[in-house]
Amino acid sequence: MVPRSGSASLDSVLARVLPDLWRDNAMVVPVLADQERFKLDRSDDALFYAEPRFVHHLDGGFRARLTALYREHIPPCAVVLDLMSSWVSHLPPDVSYERVIGHGLNEQELAANPRLNQHWVQNLNADQRLPLADASVDVTLIVAGWQYLQQPEAIAAELLRITRQGGEVIVAFSNRMFFQKAPQVWTDGGDRDHLDYVARVLIAQGWPTPVILAEATRAEGALGWIGAKGDPFFAVIASQPVKA
Ligand SMILES: C[S@@+](CC[C@H](N)C(=O)[O-])C[C@H]1O[C@@H](n2cnc3c(N)ncnc32)[C@H](O)[C@@H]1O
Repeated sequence: MVPRSGSASLDSVLARVLPDLWRDNAMVVPVLADQERFKLDRSDDALFYAEPRFVHHLDGGFRARLTALYREHIPPCAVVLDLMSSWVSHLPPDVSYERVIGHGLNEQELAANPRLNQHWVQNLNADQRLPLADASVDVTLIVAGWQYLQQPEAIAAELLRITRQGGEVIVAFSNRMFFQKAPQVWTDGGDRDHLDYVARVLIAQGWPTPVILAEATRAEGALGWIGAKGDPFFAVIASQPVKA
C-alpha cells in the first residue's frame, strides 16, 4: 500500500512519541524508574576503570562454582561473549571454544585475559548498542557486572538480538559491589531483590522466564574444611528458545 501523502509510518510515529525507547527499530521495554538508575558517583565510568585491577573480585569458592556451571552450560563449539569482563573469564581451562569475545572498560585487563580471541572497550552506560551481528553468539556471560548497568533494559534487548536460537545468557553475581558505581535499584535491594530484578528486566525484553540459582559456597582453604562459607553464588540463566 502506498502511504497517503503526509501520513507517517509507524516507525516514525514511535520514534517521535517514544524517542528513548525506539532504537534501531527494536523496542526496549522500560522496567526501572529514572531515580532507580541514579548512582552516587556520576562521573564517567571510564575514569573509575582507567587503572587496571589485576585482582579477583570474587573468592575461590564462587569462582569454582561458576567454572563448573560454565562446563555444564557451554558446549565446546560455542561462540562465547564475556560481557563486562576483565583479565579473567572463569571458563574451564581445558575446554576450547569456537571463539571467546571479550568486552570491558579497561584495555590492559582485556589484553591480559588469555581466554579472549578478540575484545573491545565500550561504556555500556553511555552506549548500549553492541557491535555484534544478529544471532551471532551462543552464550553471553556477565559476572559481577550487571549491578553497574544503568540501562539494563537496552542491554537485555541487545542480548536477545545477538543470541542464536537455543543460546543463553548467564548473569552471575555475589553480594558485593562498588557501592558508589551501582545504581539505586541495586544498592537499595538485597540478594533476593537482585535476582528478581535481573529476571524481570530479561523477561520484559522478551526472554523466557529464566532459571535462578542461589547457593552457598565453601570458603577457600582450611576455613572451608571447618565449615566457613565463601561468597554466596547467584545466577540468572535465560535461554533463547529454538523456533519451530
Ligand atoms: C567487578 S568487575 C568484574 C569483572 C569480571 N567480569 C570478573 O569476573 O572479574 C566489573 C566489570 O564491569 C565492567 N563495567 C563496569 N561498568 C561498566 C560500564 N559502564 N560499561 C561497560 N562495562 C562496565 C568492567 O569491565 C568491570 O571490569
